[in-house]
Amino acid sequence: MASQGILRIEWAESMMPVLRFIRNRFKKEKPLKGHRIGCCLHITTETANLLYTLKSGGADVFLTASNPLSTQDDVAAALAKNGIGVFACNGESRREYYANMQQVLKNRPEILIDDGADLISTVHKKRIKGVLGGTEETTTGVIRLKQMERDRVLRFPIIAVNDSLTKHLFDNRYGTGQSTIDGILRATNILISGSNFVVAGYGWCGRGLALRAKGMGANVIVTEVDPVKALEARMDGYTVMPMSEAAKVGDVFITVTGDINVIRGEHLRKMKDGAIIGNSGHFDVEIDKKALSRLARKKRMVRSFCEEYTLRNGRRVHLLSEGRLVNLAAAEGHPAMVMDLSFANQALAAEYLLHNRKLQHIVYNLPLAIDERIARLKLKSMGIAIDRLTTEQKKYLASWRMGT
Ligand code: ADE
Repeated sequence: MASQGILRIEWAESMMPVLRFIRNRFKKEKPLKGHRIGCCLHITTETANLLYTLKSGGADVFLTASNPLSTQDDVAAALAKNGIGVFACNGESRREYYANMQQVLKNRPEILIDDGADLISTVHKKRIKGVLGGTEETTTGVIRLKQMERDRVLRFPIIAVNDSLTKHLFDNRYGTGQSTIDGILRATNILISGSNFVVAGYGWCGRGLALRAKGMGANVIVTEVDPVKALEARMDGYTVMPMSEAAKVGDVFITVTGDINVIRGEHLRKMKDGAIIGNSGHFDVEIDKKALSRLARKKRMVRSFCEEYTLRNGRRVHLLSEGRLVNLAAAEGHPAMVMDLSFANQALAAEYLLHNRKLQHIVYNLPLAIDERIARLKLKSMGIAIDRLTTEQKKYLASWRMGT
């Protein structure tokens, strides 16, 4: 499988110019020399390019999967062939998932690069030795880690990569928007145009998904619990209603909230025959699968990643990729072009942790200057020039700052 993985990793690399720029600098400067980095990430062609970048910087790198269904086995094989310790296999059980994480931890990583905070929370279950810091890729993970900070149990500094502007404004919005549609289409081949497309949650991922579904001709319905986000969704042109109402009219339902049981038995019972339900939030907790099983009298796989449940009321509901991240299980995750920005942030966050050894045990953002550097590099790679402030404009702005 390795040869296929190598080709696909190269393809992704051609669309990751910012990461390539960082990799070339890392090759010369070796800022990570001699350090061990443990990663818990979706094992994709884009992740492979991050790992090669860290390796170019002089680090020893170890990788486990952040989800049992997202591992691309050809990529894992290619990485193993190129000297990265990979512990993962697509479809691994829950027990194997945690056993593989332990394999990474056995290598005594000094920096942990996480997606969802499972690796960082696992390491906190025992006495911690030698960990300098961690970085976190997702909104869900940052929420978990900020709670650990509030509970005063965090034992090393964390960089919330998710909260960099060049991460969530692009990856969460345009990445999730596109890759979720990609996953739905691969699993079902439905026509989005003309459908009632329900998006549960209007964070950055929900915004991106609603935008793409609307662009493909769907009638988009947003459900929310946050009044400000609900108002924003309405003013962005979507219909807003509670899930109890949306359940009756939706053709496709995708959850992107980060919370549990967003689609429950009371909603499933109201759904139309043929409704499609899926999730793009980090954990497979947003659809109450137990309730779905309880309500069903029959289930069968009707396509890859598409399981048909026939409910006792006679209606069929189709669950995509077992309620796990549909964009990474049924498709390949976000395109390389956008992961370029996210993983540029990850590579620079690892370097930042090594350069800043006096950080407290709290959750930090990367400095804005790093965001701006990444955005400038991306613009340059796209052949886009922008204006610079003139001396006169700088003076004018400075005079306001001084209150004159
Ligand atoms: N998260 C979402 N898309 C991803 C990708 N392509 N690679 C790694 N992590 C991801």
